[in-house]
Amino acid sequence: MTLDKIPPESHNRPTMPLHVLQHPVARHYLTRLRTADTRPALFRRYCHIVTTALLFEASRDLPERPVQIQTPLEPMTTHELEGEVVVVSILRAGLGMCEPFTEILPRVSIGYLGLERDEETAEARAYYRKLPPIAGKRVFVVDPMLATGGSALLALDQVMQEAPAAVSFLCVVAAPEGVHRLHTKYPTLPIFAGALDRQLDERKYIRPGLGDFGDRLYGTGIGP
Ligand code: PRP
Ligand code: URA
Repeated sequence: MTLDKIPPESHNRPTMPLHVLQHPVARHYLTRLRTADTRPALFRRYCHIVTTALLFEASRDLPERPVQIQTPLEPMTTHELEGEVVVVSILRAGLGMCEPFTEILPRVSIGYLGLERDEETAEARAYYRKLPPIAGKRVFVVDPMLATGGSALLALDQVMQEAPAAVSFLCVVAAPEGVHRLHTKYPTLPIFAGALDRQLDERKYIRPGLGDFGDRLYGTGIGP
């Protein structure tokens, strides 16, 4: 499946479930992430920045409560965030997306699902699970690469079984195939992506993509 199979009019409408970042600063750092010679230390930094942009986009509807405060000049009634948020990070690359949530949101707990694609078949298999209580909570599932969607689906199936109040999926780069697969099973799931790329290649890598995210994040690949 290629990009033209996802109608452009379905991107970025508030009621539509695929939201692709449309911001020059986010695009700039996505370009740096894609660049082949960006080394792991900077790659982690740029991942942090793009995830921060995704967080702000995906958290527009978080509940707030009114609060009375005192500014240096006068009292005022304003708002603060209400309630706890759960982030479920798909290991290992999803680790690179956790820090902005713990830095920015006042009440957040983090769960981990260890999933790994088989190098030959690209099928994901689960090897680890540690989730906080999720029932009734707002959940953000994070994994930078949505390729075939196999890893994301395995994760979402586990999260949905815990009866969350609402779930969104956040990724740095999405392939049309992955978006289609998630929306076939979960048609109303909001997906927030830094970019929607062209297609998967024969090895199920996203093209143009940015390569193997986990390897680039942790310096475990070959090359620069
Ligand atoms: C990558 C990525 C996703 C998955 C996406 O992880 O972080 O989890 O591939 O591919 P999919 O949509 O086809 O399932 P990988 O399995 O390479 O493991 P890693 O994070 O440990 O490198
Ligand atoms: N996982 C990655 O890290 N990159 C891809 O392009 C596809 C899956």
